[in-house]
Amino acid sequence: MIVVGIETTCDETSVGILRFTQKKRKNSRLPEVEELALITLSQDFHSIYGGVVPELASRAHLENITLVLKEALRKAKIDISEVDIISVASEPGLPGSLIVGTSFAKGLAQSLSKSIVAVNHVEAHIISPLIENDLKFPFASLIVSGGHSSLYLVEDIGSYKLLLKTRDDSVGEVFDKVAKFFRFGYPGGPIIDYISAGANSLFSFPEIQVEDLSFSGIKTFCVRTPINWFGPFPLPEFFSSFQKKVIDEVIDKTIKSLKKLEIEINTVAVSGGVARNSYFRRRVKDFPEINFVFPSPKYCTDNGSMIAFLGGLKKILFSQESDLNFDIRPTGVLKSKGGIDWKSDIFSPS
Ligand code: KG4
Ligand code: ZN
Repeated sequence: MIVVGIETTCDETSVGILRFTQKKRKNSRLPEVEELALITLSQDFHSIYGGVVPELASRAHLENITLVLKEALRKAKIDISEVDIISVASEPGLPGSLIVGTSFAKGLAQSLSKSIVAVNHVEAHIISPLIENDLKFPFASLIVSGGHSSLYLVEDIGSYKLLLKTRDDSVGEVFDKVAKFFRFGYPGGPIIDYISAGANSLFSFPEIQVEDLSFSGIKTFCVRTPINWFGPFPLPEFFSSFQKKVIDEVIDKTIKSLKKLEIEINTVAVSGGVARNSYFRRRVKDFPEINFVFPSPKYCTDNGSMIAFLGGLKKILFSQESDLNFDIRPTGVLKSKGGIDWKSDIFSPS
């Protein structure tokens, strides 16, 4: 079964093509899957505005989506008629961007008489580590991106419990906002990561007193410190300390949340753009009791393959499909079975 996944929730226009085989994975009911193509076009031009401009994002999706699909089909060496299912992210995300992706997907499905599956973007992130890894349920999934910062207990495909969320900014957002304050452009995460390389973490950031993730105190410290500084400001050391504080906070709160559970969970799959952070990847080695699983960089950022993967699994495992008249849900939340208040886990583009 060949599934095309269309992702246009924010500022990536991405199409992934996966082939699901009849073969089951070892000790699992999940099918084996092969990626035939993944083409992701990042809208770098938002950099000059210091953040994603929704109107420009949707226009760029409109201009690029056909080309991205054509390129993905060319790379996969298949004709569109060979595709069995169109999977598309319909929630949460920027309204205009969601409209472009879902309208395009509906048009394809209707003209080719194919099934369509509308999926939740956050759910796709949560299960994306399963594309490359055979993780045993239950495991924990940590999403650290520009729009989300949440930790879920993944009991099965479709069964998630929200364990941790942020009170204010998402992890990626705090990187982006701090970089914007220093006029470094957008997205800030890779820039801060680059500048921090090899520098010592000399600055002590204030302690965060809340149980959830929260970064407003860190942001205030970032704004105040250079203003009160005398002499040349040691940027690499400052960013290295900032990055350490943010990532250590995420790791610490994640481990504390897992310890509160009645069952023992020692696998944490990490996804979202911040999963690319080099300090994060080094730092987890200091916690050998937890197996932190990082996807390949192409699956960390928003991508069409995770959308194809979730759509394919919904069809294969639960025979789920969508009607062509489904709506977009820009603030669509992922239902949590128990856990903390899931209503507040909404999308907030930086
Ligand atoms: O998952 P993603 O591509 O898009 C969504 O937000 O859904 O994540 C983008 C975020 C941005 O906030 C960006 O600054 C951050 O991921 N990011 C990083 C790094 N690479 C991307 N943050 C820290 N270090 C990085 N190396
Ligand atoms: Zn995302």
